[in-house]
Amino acid sequence: MTLRVGIVGAGNMATVHADGWGAAGDSIIAVLDADAERAAEFAAATGGRVADDLDDLLRSVDVVDICTPTDTHLNYVLAGAAAGVAVACEKPLARTGDGARSAVAACREAGVPLLVGHVVRFFPEYVEARARVAAGDIGDVAVVRLDRSTYLPAGASAWFKDPARSGGVVHDLMIHDVDYAAWIAGTVTRAYARLAGSIDGGDHVLATLKHEGGAISHVQASWAFPVGSFRTSIEIAGSEGLITRHAADPFRSLVAVSPDVPDVPAPPTSGESPYVTQIRHFSDVLQGKATSRIAPEDAAAAVDVCDAIATSIESGQAVQIGENL
Ligand SMILES: NC(=O)c1ccc[n+]([C@@H]2O[C@H](COP(=O)([O-])OP(=O)(O)OC[C@H]3O[C@@H](n4cnc5c(N)ncnc54)[C@H](O)[C@@H]3O)[C@@H](O)[C@H]2O)c1
Repeated sequence: MTLRVGIVGAGNMATVHADGWGAAGDSIIAVLDADAERAAEFAAATGGRVADDLDDLLRSVDVVDICTPTDTHLNYVLAGAAAGVAVACEKPLARTGDGARSAVAACREAGVPLLVGHVVRFFPEYVEARARVAAGDIGDVAVVRLDRSTYLPAGASAWFKDPARSGGVVHDLMIHDVDYAAWIAGTVTRAYARLAGSIDGGDHVLATLKHEGGAISHVQASWAFPVGSFRTSIEIAGSEGLITRHAADPFRSLVAVSPDVPDVPAPPTSGESPYVTQIRHFSDVLQGKATSRIAPEDAAAAVDVCDAIATSIESGQAVQIGENL
């Protein structure tokens, strides 16, 4: 079966997703973007058409794929649910945990699938580490340490640089590892975080998370690293062993800024683009060939934890999660 896909937002991630839908054999039927010129270029490149408006797009597709700025996700998810159309949405599911949970509820009540792009769950190294934990290779998980350090792209869209719209480095970047930590060690119940510093507007945040089973995660996310760099690492210490993976060049001296540095840097990995793997998986789920690897509730929980991290940074206090939700 070929799915009819409508994409909302025709920027960086929409282009990446379009590759994935193409690889899955699905068709981009319609596109909508606040910037009409961008929508027209995207439609020409993907073979779809520019929709007249959101209702027009939703009427003609099996799935709406939301690739717009973070603070606009919620309204599009609610519209997809109201129209009875399956929803795919980039992370974070919404700008706040409250919004994310209402998105999950709306899709559940409407009976439509909700697939959120927590792409780290498709990076082979992260998948392998989790499989080894699940197989019992390292015993009980005790301490997880995750790092995601890159730069704030000079050419990034204005919304991205506005924390009120993107959530800043916590909701935009750290959320990847917040979700992964919960996937490995279970629900996060407490967060303590510090903004360690900022360089040219690029924040560096350190967070300590406590999981319901007692494990602890140390998560670092940074937009304060040199332009062109992207470093990630995984360390999972258990009662009987340790899993580590550090993705960085053995030796690298990054002193010159290349003119073709990407606006949206991608972390190093191997094999097929995990973004393509993710969309193939979404396609399989929507066709009943697979069960979603990302429960909508997990995507909402990740936003709740990011909200708690942001609150902790502001207050200087640890924040309990889930008490009043
Ligand atoms: N999974 C990842 O690794 C990853 C990486 C980058 C971005 N993202 C997420 O993807 C989303 C999009 O990011 P991006 O980098 O593609 O942004 P972008 O700025 O490149 O593209 C956003 C597009 O949406 C359009 N737009 C803005 N407001 C709109 C509205 N209300 N309705 C319709 N169109 C609108 C803009 O004109 C633009 O074309 C964000 O939520 C971001 O956090 C995820």
